[in-house]
Amino acid sequence: MQNTLMDNKLLNNSGTDMLTIARPDDWHLHLRDGAVLESVVADTARQFARAIIMPNLKAPVVSVDLAQAYHDRICRALTANGIQKSAFTPLMTLYLTDNTTAAEIIKAKASGLVHGVKLYPAGATTNSDAGVTNLLKHCGPALEAMQEVGMPLLVHGEVTDPDIDLFDREAVFIDRVMIPLRRAFPDLKVVFEHLTTREGVDYVTQAQGPVAATITAHHLLYNRNALFQGGIRPHWYCLPVLKREQHRQALVEAATGGSGRFFLGTDSAPHPKGLKEHACGCAGCYTALHAMELYATAFDSVGKLDQLEAFASLNGPAFYGLPVNQGTLTLQRQAYVIPAELPMADTSVVPLAAGETLGWAVRA
Ligand code: NCD
Ligand code: ZN
Repeated sequence: MQNTLMDNKLLNNSGTDMLTIARPDDWHLHLRDGAVLESVVADTARQFARAIIMPNLKAPVVSVDLAQAYHDRICRALTANGIQKSAFTPLMTLYLTDNTTAAEIIKAKASGLVHGVKLYPAGATTNSDAGVTNLLKHCGPALEAMQEVGMPLLVHGEVTDPDIDLFDREAVFIDRVMIPLRRAFPDLKVVFEHLTTREGVDYVTQAQGPVAATITAHHLLYNRNALFQGGIRPHWYCLPVLKREQHRQALVEAATGGSGRFFLGTDSAPHPKGLKEHACGCAGCYTALHAMELYATAFDSVGKLDQLEAFASLNGPAFYGLPVNQGTLTLQRQAYVIPAELPMADTSVVPLAAGETLGWAVRA
């Protein structure tokens, strides 16, 4: 199979061969549950000190009690991998529904465990059936409480209207949902998750008030051609779907441009190989294994490695009101071959760009 990383990604554009940054965090991560959780948690803990844990389990994490129980299962999975609890902190989230109460938000804030509430428009992506059907109509009291206590709303920013072209769903979401939401709740902290378009970058850059966005490594490295290069390639299929090259370039400019509003969120999501390579393949890319290698490759491609620390380690904590991590992570310029497949529970997961070679590796 052809290497999809553009040639210049492997060139030395910055002149640096070694980069040490404050230990980074992943502000958007899917760990799943059960045996898969045990397999994937070590990949993230190897690179990141903390991660915002997405709540879209098969039975979604809709309450503080469920978040606490999930947190404890994650901690047990860390222990089972021989990882000390102090080495990795899961930052839990709640799954917003039409029935989320203000009292649950206040309880979430008081718990100290829950750091965000996730909006999935019903039907927008994997495990989103229990999501919100009409945000401003049903979620007013919860949003009011979130604004009041400073609990961030983490947004999957795509409309689900079947009449809207798949590639336009993020841009239409800005007009139909984001603008009315932020007019009604101007002081609500909002993270526009996994941003994919120039329209999204422009909105986040220009908006008044506490708005930020996460950007994945795959949206920085690939445009939508990657989905179809040499045939249909399910391992590049995620939601929001990869967009045109001009959008990829806007994302790279945003991530490397020094604005504190943009930070790292892998959206790494482990789907079994057989469900990706399928007549109706599911959405999500697995990047937890090689996240920092991928991001370093993207930043290096535009000679902006000096901006990686702000994006990966500083901007996120500043937005969430958390301290910067104490330790460091070192990346080294060397060939890194992405494994073809990762055994996982009774199945396997194919990491993004499996078999390809990157120009950066995290030093053990
Ligand atoms: C995510 C998943 O698999 O949970 N999939 C994806 O394509 N990104 C859900 C999500 O973040 O949309
Ligand atoms: Zn996600």
